[in-house]
Amino acid sequence: MKTAFRALLIASLLGFSALAGVSQTFPVPDGVFTDGEYAMVREASGMRMGFRLSVDGSTVLASITMRTDGWVALGFGSPKMDGSRMILAYVKDGEAEFTEDLGKGWSHAPIAPFALARAATEKDGWTTLEVALPAEGFLKGRTLDVIAAWGRNDNFRSKHSGRASLPVSF
Ligand code: HEM
Repeated sequence: MKTAFRALLIASLLGFSALAGVSQTFPVPDGVFTDGEYAMVREASGMRMGFRLSVDGSTVLASITMRTDGWVALGFGSPKMDGSRMILAYVKDGEAEFTEDLGKGWSHAPIAPFALARAATEKDGWTTLEVALPAEGFLKGRTLDVIAAWGRNDNFRSKHSGRASLPVSF
């Protein structure tokens, strides 16, 4: 299943390159945030985020980087925790841990993974999460409701030290 998703993603990335020409590349989630990878770079509550929609409109690439050695997270499809499909990540002893959750009120619990690809790194005190997700079911017209948060600990239960909600228009 994972391999099928990866093949699908690579195929869509190749499709993008063919359409856009060799000068542009679509960011592949590798856990390294580079401004040039994203059509849109936003900052909120100390968090730096990047967003990009593939030319065929099928795939969203999103990233968050924050000065913390704890967790970072992005949530999609709702301006509040409630109803948001979230992906949380932290890196401990060099290993990236992820959970894909649905927000319910001010809590969240795991659901079937929705990300096409994901990667997280921790370097020089910054934790970065990059994720690819299908636009369908998340995008409302050209707008994506995004929430973001970070925490100081390497676990998925401790509350955020910072959070933000932002509509992203492609
Ligand atoms: C880890 C467990 C979490 C707990 C216990 C928690 C708890 C809360 C609480 C009590 C509030 C109310 C206002 C405040 O106190 O700041 C809140 C608001 C908020 N949280 Fe969380 N949260 C968690 C995870 C997350 C995650 C993972 C995200 C982002 C992906 C997030 C994004 C937000 C946002 C954007 C708000 C303001 C909008 C709203 O009320 O839903 N939270 N959270």
